[in-house]
Amino acid sequence: MRNNSNHAMFPEATHDEQALQSYIKSLRVHTARNFHDGNKKILAERIEPQLRRKTKGRMPNRKQVREAFMQEEYHRWWSAMLRTTQEMLYDSVGPTIERQLPQLLEKAKALKGKRGSMTLDPSITTPLYLAAVDMHCKPGSYQQELMDDDVFPGAEFDRTFRLYSMGGLGPNLDDGGWTLIAWLKNRFPKLSPKRILDLGCTVGHSTLPYCDAFGTDVEVHAVDTAAPCLRYGHARAVSMEKDVHFRQANAEHLPYPDNHFDLVVSQALMHETSKKAIRNIYKECFRVLKPGGIMAHQDGITPNDLYEKFYSEWMAHNNNEPYLGTVQDEDFDGILAQAGFGKSKRIISSSKPVYRRHEDDDAPVQEYIVVAAQK
Ligand SMILES: C[S@@+](CC[C@H](N)C(=O)[O-])C[C@H]1O[C@@H](n2cnc3c(N)ncnc32)[C@H](O)[C@@H]1O
Repeated sequence: MRNNSNHAMFPEATHDEQALQSYIKSLRVHTARNFHDGNKKILAERIEPQLRRKTKGRMPNRKQVREAFMQEEYHRWWSAMLRTTQEMLYDSVGPTIERQLPQLLEKAKALKGKRGSMTLDPSITTPLYLAAVDMHCKPGSYQQELMDDDVFPGAEFDRTFRLYSMGGLGPNLDDGGWTLIAWLKNRFPKLSPKRILDLGCTVGHSTLPYCDAFGTDVEVHAVDTAAPCLRYGHARAVSMEKDVHFRQANAEHLPYPDNHFDLVVSQALMHETSKKAIRNIYKECFRVLKPGGIMAHQDGITPNDLYEKFYSEWMAHNNNEPYLGTVQDEDFDGILAQAGFGKSKRIISSSKPVYRRHEDDDAPVQEYIVVAAQK
């Protein structure tokens, strides 16, 4: 597979394991690239015209489109195939991580504390919106720990995310970070943050670019509720010679003082929270930002495209991402206002991935949404 990660913590795969994983990745790409088109044709030719007649020309809602698709045999076949490939991802990666878990635990222990820091807080409970499901079918989600100092969910995420994203996020899976940085530099050419916080960092894929993007004199902090991902992420960062201060914390109640950060960011956090949580998180961002500081949350949300909206609804129902449908209809500007950000300081915009995604067998390009504001 093109672009495999190359750091000391990255779980290895034997020839046969890699072959199976590459096959599943190709099957997903095939399903996503070739079969989406069939769904789109059905939507354009049958479902949308029928629904628009019912809604008197207005854009149909997610539920109407999903229910109409459920009557389509082609769609049901595609749906079963996509769900199956998702389960196959984890079925193919999990046992390979278990096989090498003792070595991964040893490596993580040896790297612990060598650079940056990691602060775990056993009093942090996993929010219900994460604990209630195996998020995107990941067994045990991000947080399940089966032994002391467990790193399994982090190691599994590192490998499956490469397969899940179908090779389009670059060798270190950091496309999200670099894309948001490019967006920030374009919007705020004078931006020169000294203290940065990344929320919902998982293993730090999108966090590490902030160590290099704004000069060397920068303090990078990252939080997540999932301890085993933070352990793996800290060891991964050390092995990549990056200084990040990882901390187990809930982004709804951040353990930092008021007016503390110049920049607060997140990548793909919003859609994995909840209606209540996203409002709490924006308020916390406002509190911990210095006056003039910037908050920017980037996610794969495309509310103006009916097919993408439907696809998110499909994921909410079939890929264990319960908020992903609802988040498409959120009034982000209103939430920013409620959090305290002034009207002229609020930005809702789109960003284009920096890595090329159309090469070889990679996945189709998808834009991100950026919900940003200045305090
Ligand atoms: C899709 S992953 C984010 C991926 C990561 N930012 C990246 O770019 O690779 C979502 C992460 O958000 C974390 N998360 C969700 N709600 C959270 C909260 N309230 N506080 C902290 N972390 C949270 C989850 O544990 C999970 O690790």
